[in-house]
Amino acid sequence: MFYFCSHLAIRSIRRFWPSVFAAAAVLIMALAGGLSANHGISNHKVQARVDLMVAQKAALAVLTEMASTRRPFNRDQARAARKTLKGTTEKIPKRFRRPHRDPHSLAKPAVWHNWDDFTRHAERANAAANGLNTRTLVDLRRSLPALIQSCTACHDEYKEPGHEFTTH
Ligand code: HEC
Repeated sequence: MFYFCSHLAIRSIRRFWPSVFAAAAVLIMALAGGLSANHGISNHKVQARVDLMVAQKAALAVLTEMASTRRPFNRDQARAARKTLKGTTEKIPKRFRRPHRDPHSLAKPAVWHNWDDFTRHAERANAAANGLNTRTLVDLRRSLPALIQSCTACHDEYKEPGHEFTTH
């Protein structure tokens, strides 16, 4: 039974992974440009929460590049990216707690109307970051989809589509 279940799980992960990877590629491409631009944001509290998001985008990019073998797997780099993501996801509620506004912000007002739900999304992202396993490439590939989905799930609810054509 155990063999059967784990076999099934591995098969479904294999089948699942390409679509997850495609979703990650879309997410990262859609978010490209965030590292250099500040999109004209002048409120520094808003800038701080955007900086946090941009930092986690950069860390996630390292991991998705390794997962897709566009970058060689490197355990130390993967572990460092995981550490960044643990820290950034943990800080999401703190950075967003107060409803600072800026005309260039992409945060929907729903963040503050549905604060409990928003923080649940942040907790899920933090749990997924904690759950990242960076020991081997196989472990990384298995544990990364949950994190990517947690980013996308929150953006779908609480972030405007953005400065680009794509949706995340
Ligand atoms: C709990 C909700 C939530 C989670 C989880 C979340 N984000 Fe965000 N993210 C937002 C919101 C809201 C904004 C818009 C902030 C603003 O413009 O004020 C945003 C904006 C961004 C931006 C755009 C920054 C810019 O240049 O304008 C990037 C990049 C980003 N997130 C990456 C990520 C990544 C990568 C993850 C997963 C590791 C993630 N986010 C997880 C809510 C979330």
